[in-house]
Amino acid sequence: MSSINVLMNNLEKLKLFKIKENINSYLDMVADGVKTPMDAFSEMIQMEVNHKEDLAIVSCVKIANFPFQRGIQDFDFSFQPSLDKNKVMDLASLRFLEKTENIIICGTPGVGKTHLAVSIGTEAAKQRYSVYCISFHDLISQLRKAKYENRLEARIKWFCRYRLLILDELGYEKMDVDTANLFFNLIAKRYEKSSTLITTNLTFSKWPEVFGDPVLTNALLDRLLHHSQVLNINGPSYRLKDQLQLMTDDD
Ligand SMILES: Nc1ncnc2c1ncn2[C@@H]1O[C@H](COP(=O)(O)OP(=O)(O)OP(=O)(O)O)[C@@H](O)[C@H]1O
Ligand SMILES: [Mg+2]
Repeated sequence: MSSINVLMNNLEKLKLFKIKENINSYLDMVADGVKTPMDAFSEMIQMEVNHKEDLAIVSCVKIANFPFQRGIQDFDFSFQPSLDKNKVMDLASLRFLEKTENIIICGTPGVGKTHLAVSIGTEAAKQRYSVYCISFHDLISQLRKAKYENRLEARIKWFCRYRLLILDELGYEKMDVDTANLFFNLIAKRYEKSSTLITTNLTFSKWPEVFGDPVLTNALLDRLLHHSQVLNINGPSYRLKDQLQLMTDDD
């Protein structure tokens, strides 16, 4: 086999696909004196590194299980003037992850809670942090199922392996005390180890109604809020943006 074929086969075996794709044109450039061997070599390696990083980002974003794709750049801050853009941008810089802070995003329906949660989660996934997003409803049913099947510890451990766990839509359903305890168990295990981002339509004073037990709710809020940042969004629903526009046009 010719040396170029051996080289191509080895690049294939090592999964260095970008180098394999480009090596012929780089060999030509070196032969023509357009590039030094050193430049050609380091450019090809850089290409391969970039390609592998891009693939890793795609896979982290896929694993994160976001309900839709949104970025901070898609968020119209002028529509929610009550929201502090600098604070949101600071969260998107992911400093909170290094400080193991939690984020609670509160607001009425349609104000962009999930949009912001997904945007922050996407930034984290792009930086190769392990991220997982799940609705509160699905989380609770998974924990209950795991308990029923006698594998609760393993399931909680599974949720604990993520550096950022996004729990979307807390507060839409009330829980019995056993279920509330399952959730408390998870938050207690994650406390000061990794960050949890919660979106909710509830003000904190209403949490005891959802969890059914004021003592447990206090212990839960204590852990969640100890190192945390809270975003309150007080504004109109973006889903009703067009209707609101029509109403102002009629005036
Ligand atoms: N300020 C905004 N700029 C651009 N798009 C927005 C903005 N706010 C919300 N949206 C869009 O409006 C839709 C609803 O937003 P989102 O799902 O984030 O609302 P929510 O606060 O999570 O509502 P709910 O409580 O009903 O879950 C999404 O498509 C989202 O991308
Ligand atoms: Mg939402």
